Amino acid sequence: MPPRHFLTGTELTAEELDALLDRALELKREPLSSNALAGRSVALIFEKPSTRTRVSFDVGIHELGGHAVVLRSDELQLSRGEAPRDTALVLSRHVAAVGLRTGADAILEELAAYSAVPILNMLSAGHHPCQALADLLTLREACASLEGVRLAYIGDANNIARSLALLGSLAGVHVALASPAGYALEDDLALPASARGSVTRYTDPYEAVRGAAAVYTDVWVSMGDEATAAERRSALAGYRVDDALLNAAAPGAFAMHDLPAHPGEEITPEVLYGARERIWDQAENRRHAQKALLEWLVA
Ligand code: CP
Ligand code: NVA
Repeated sequence: MPPRHFLTGTELTAEELDALLDRALELKREPLSSNALAGRSVALIFEKPSTRTRVSFDVGIHELGGHAVVLRSDELQLSRGEAPRDTALVLSRHVAAVGLRTGADAILEELAAYSAVPILNMLSAGHHPCQALADLLTLREACASLEGVRLAYIGDANNIARSLALLGSLAGVHVALASPAGYALEDDLALPASARGSVTRYTDPYEAVRGAAAVYTDVWVSMGDEATAAERRSALAGYRVDDALLNAAAPGAFAMHDLPAHPGEEITPEVLYGARERIWDQAENRRHAQKALLEWLVA
């Protein structure tokens, strides 16, 4: 049987996503209760910097009884032209799964095409599905059921926004995205077949947050977008999450951010460090959600 992969997150059915979030909550309560990776290793390849992803996977794999082989791309022959196909064939002989943080989604697809073990996306230009799992776990903790919950995302419709749209809608969330012209989510994004929620695009952040249980934002300049930083900051200047915007959301609404943050740009320090954030819980939930994901991948 071919291995399971996790490239966009839409490899999961709605039922599998529900079960994975249930399992993540169990693992959060009992972090050392699973030995799913006992005696096994997982390769984690980073072509871009990372704090949360690197630490949460490394520690999570250890908690599952496994060993993480953390590799920077410049340590691999991949950086000297070895084919992703050959890299996949070799890594498959040693490890139980391979995680990759990269720019091009095509490299992940090529690894997945040839790997005998699961390939998982630890962030690409197009997607960040591991982050979306942690985000949904955080929403579940706050809202109990995700069915019908409204989540507003304010700013650049980047990898974070796309993964929230895909996995959020799969989980039953109504995702409302507010972005300026030129930075909106593509109109033809195909939602998963078993999606129970919806995705709606706005330009006005205040329209998007109406009725939202949570207001999410991400950086205006993602890794790889540095050349267009000045024009991005100018286009996105009206898309900052501040107290006034949170006040316009549903009563009790809280702020979310995948981090790293740029306080004063996409989020104010008052919100980032204030009483209405669940941002640091989100960062912790990366580990719990990814442990449940690893269990599903290697099952
Ligand atoms: N949110 C996230 O993926 O953070 P890192 O870039 O630090 O891994
Ligand atoms: N959109 C950001 C997310 C960082 C975790 C980036 O790709 O740089």
